[in-house]
Amino acid sequence: MSNPTYPPNAELAANAHVNAEKYEEMYAASIADPDAFWGEHGKRLDWIKPYTKVKNTSFEPGNISIKWYEDGTLNVAANCIDRHLETRGDQTAIIFEPDDPEEGAQHITYKQLHTSVCKMANVLEELGVRKGDRVILYLPMIPEAAYAMLACARIGAIHSIVFAGFSPDALAARVNGCDAKVLITADEAPRGGRKTPLKSNADEALLHCKDTVKCLVVKRTGGQTTWIDGRDFDYNEMAMEANDFHQPAEMNAEDPLFILYTSGSTGQPKGVVHCSGGYLVYAAMTQEITFDYQEGDIYWCTADVGWVTGHSYIVYGPLANGATTLMFEGTPTYPDAGRFWAVCEKHKVNQFYTAPTAIRALMGQGTEFVEKYDLSDLKVLGTVGEPINPEAWNWYNDVVGKGNCPIVDTWWQTETGGHMMTPLPGAHATKPGSAMKPFFGVKPVVLEPTSGEEISTYPTEGVLCIADSWPSQMRTVWGDHERFEKTYFADYKGYYFAGDGCRRDEDGDYWITGRVDDVINVSGHRMGTAEVESALVAHRDVAEAAVVGYPHEIKGQGIYCYVTLMNGVEPTEELRKELRTWVRTEIGPIAAPDLIQWAPGLPKTRSGKIMRRILRKIAENDYGSLGDTSTLAEPAVVDDLIENRMNK
Ligand code: WT7
Repeated sequence: MSNPTYPPNAELAANAHVNAEKYEEMYAASIADPDAFWGEHGKRLDWIKPYTKVKNTSFEPGNISIKWYEDGTLNVAANCIDRHLETRGDQTAIIFEPDDPEEGAQHITYKQLHTSVCKMANVLEELGVRKGDRVILYLPMIPEAAYAMLACARIGAIHSIVFAGFSPDALAARVNGCDAKVLITADEAPRGGRKTPLKSNADEALLHCKDTVKCLVVKRTGGQTTWIDGRDFDYNEMAMEANDFHQPAEMNAEDPLFILYTSGSTGQPKGVVHCSGGYLVYAAMTQEITFDYQEGDIYWCTADVGWVTGHSYIVYGPLANGATTLMFEGTPTYPDAGRFWAVCEKHKVNQFYTAPTAIRALMGQGTEFVEKYDLSDLKVLGTVGEPINPEAWNWYNDVVGKGNCPIVDTWWQTETGGHMMTPLPGAHATKPGSAMKPFFGVKPVVLEPTSGEEISTYPTEGVLCIADSWPSQMRTVWGDHERFEKTYFADYKGYYFAGDGCRRDEDGDYWITGRVDDVINVSGHRMGTAEVESALVAHRDVAEAAVVGYPHEIKGQGIYCYVTLMNGVEPTEELRKELRTWVRTEIGPIAAPDLIQWAPGLPKTRSGKIMRRILRKIAENDYGSLGDTSTLAEPAVVDDLIENRMNK
């Protein structure tokens, strides 16, 4: 079966940073001699002390160690701001588009960005933040979120952003997990016409944290908040007084830049650590090449800075390149389903980067919401977060891109820091649903899942691993290097294991088939099933719970929970609702169960292991192919689960 392919737009290809020929040449060079290749491309940054060493990495069991540019020094914020002041001080760095379109957009120049970031850095220092200290950000998608990130980078402090949709409990766990000195939040976060009470959530979280943690509060809505003198500090007041110059700290390339917590297949979220030099080289280079960003372009990534996409492709990558990056506070459907396209028209957006779940949600609203707007400035469209289904791809291509805009389907992860596989808009024909080709320096391999043998033929399918390091690879799990090794390097020795399955087609192009571990992908956000399970069993009425994903029309995957109640507890509709609310409050709205099935028992092996394979099949309504159930302790349990399945 051959796949439909869409050749690159010829006009774009003619002037693209990378065309087909150049891709082949550069890719080959990046693999043949990574030191030479990355030594050259590292020069896109301004270094205080230039590096003399480039790559020093090992995937060897027991000695996982990743270092890039290890003797170079730089400051990430100076690379994103100061070095542009002379040439583009009056150019817009950030366009801020607020939730409420009536409020009007803000254009922040590089000069203004410099002033605001310096002030924020001085405010943080006044609160005692120093090089190496951790700062938690729990903020709406407002310019102050970017200021805070860059201010930390300027000081050499390590930021860790907690998505504003996470609960007070999740926030407290992260403040404590990295022993943060300061928590930066705002009074309220407006989104989709509603307001999330961030400061009240922070108040609740801080009850479970050391009482030395300070709270810096940005005024967004002016919504009334409680105030604890000595602990809470008013950012707007302090910034008014603060000096507008701050000397950026000299940081080593391997000094941590940020920690970002992400879900895995077991237990608590882990703190993914990214460092300064390699991360920024790679984020900047991919932003420029994947989207073919050209001087003067307006670039918009719709992600939230609470996710890695917002780190690399709203803030660090674009600003390191001196780009104009749009920051959007709202949602795709407020005030109506035309908001994305209204913003594209208003700001003449050239590159637009979003998630399949948003495309699917908008697809259902009809094409008139798109057709109302002039989208003729669009050149490149991007997608990220989960495999994109061909229907959504085609709608994006035809209705949004009018067949003129290459779609870059970018596969990567929090752990990888930047794009790992993607077509390049001026180089590759695209195929709906395929992430196509590795970026420079990335060596994807497909392994046979059980033997771990590398499969070199194609077409083929297996687990996706990466055979060698790239500059923006995560360096460790915060405070737990052993967990880093165990999670990513233990299953397949000598490789980085991504947790995804993949297919390589007859042309050698890659198709991501989804997670092969107990992680599900809900609206492009990663959710560890173990986290939802432990939230459920923390409820007094729940004896046991097992959580799996199932196909969901908009979200990609929905959260399906099998719940065994305590003896004597009545399974009612109210209880179902209560459990849903319970998980929302324990973790956050993104973890809210879609379907809860009462399970008198769970299918287990004789040794007591829950057979998730069976639960997944039932949730997918595909119980005809349950496979071997003969090893079950109580085979009858399965009949009951099928009989009462929720996804009929
Ligand atoms: C997981 C990583 C990378 C930023 C957003 C999510 C899935 C991501 C794609 C894509 C198919 C994709 C993978 C991956 N994923 N992009 N283009 N095609 N799957 O970051 O939360 O770290 O999740 O998202 O399963 O492992 P994340």
